[in-house]
Amino acid sequence: MKLNVVCIPGDGIGPEIVAQAKKVLNKALALYGHEITYQDILMGGASIDVHGVPLTDEAIANAKAADAVLMGSIGGDTTKSPWYKLAPELRPEAGLLKIRKALNLFANLRPAVLYPELADACPLRGETRKNGFDMLIMRELTGGLYFGERKTITENGERKAIDTLTYSESEIRRIAIKGFEIARKRRKKVTSVDKANVLDSSRLWRAVVEEVAKDYPDVTLEHMLVDNCAMQLVKDPAQFDVILTENMFGDILSDEASMVTGSIGMLASASLNDTKFGLYEPSHGSAPDIAGKDIANPIATVLSASMMLRYSFDLDDVADAVDRAVQQVLQDGLRTVDIMSEGCRQVGCSEMGDLICERITGGQRDEK
Ligand code: IPM
Ligand code: MG
Repeated sequence: MKLNVVCIPGDGIGPEIVAQAKKVLNKALALYGHEITYQDILMGGASIDVHGVPLTDEAIANAKAADAVLMGSIGGDTTKSPWYKLAPELRPEAGLLKIRKALNLFANLRPAVLYPELADACPLRGETRKNGFDMLIMRELTGGLYFGERKTITENGERKAIDTLTYSESEIRRIAIKGFEIARKRRKKVTSVDKANVLDSSRLWRAVVEEVAKDYPDVTLEHMLVDNCAMQLVKDPAQFDVILTENMFGDILSDEASMVTGSIGMLASASLNDTKFGLYEPSHGSAPDIAGKDIANPIATVLSASMMLRYSFDLDDVADAVDRAVQQVLQDGLRTVDIMSEGCRQVGCSEMGDLICERITGGQRDEK
């Protein structure tokens, strides 16, 4: 198979971590008899510096023409970087929102897993740490408050800001279907998270999710209010399989879920549309404070590349090989500084990339 991938190295640690993911993809794909070509595009601050805008139409066209997009991270220090003196629609994050919308990436999958090797990093105590957890947050990504009409006006001599939260039935239905489909391949439980005790958009969300659930009698559905979900995530994260939720709630809950794993540097994500196309990126940000120091953890980006192999290319065997290699480096006690613990050996970003590559096994000789 020939894969044509657009990369967005982006800002901060983005270029370093994407470089490691490329190394891993090259090694794994070659071993399994596939070819991959890359084309880099600019987004975020890197694009602002060159083009004055966070994402050009040409970059969008290039991304659209690819089979999938692999991204590092975008953005800088919001208090210091000159990018944040620009109008909101010209700042780095606007590029990310624009590409999500332009490519119709409405389904954002954010798995949060507590690896047994990293149990010590989990800030929770007792049973949770011992038993681990494995959940997936299915976040709606192109609707809600993020894309509703917004403005700041002056009324009665004071400034007033307005953000609009809208969801249509079809927007809810398509993400709900994705949620149930993925639950079917996992532990068959969907927790739909809303604020139906207050918001109309949540009441519609709940009603549509109920309708979709009828087509998935093998999947258990429960509803949970978002404030309760925030609490349950730190009380008993193992109760969750798939959390299905709208854009803003998903943004907040996925950061919380990642913290519960103790290592945001490990969490991958996929943003998908109705086809096999997707944008894959680590859940963490651009960490400008450690950029260029070769100390960032590339694992979340490597695991995002593995999600790309699985969801966009159906190359489960190659994805499994990458995931196994990641697990193996952890078992071998190799750690970047963010997940370092006693008795382990600390390595840098690019060394971690090499160590993962060394552990990739299997390939054509195993195939029938
Ligand atoms: C995320 C990020 C983005 C979001 C920001 C950078 C716009 O926090 O991907 O979770 O809010 O969606
Ligand atoms: Mg976020």
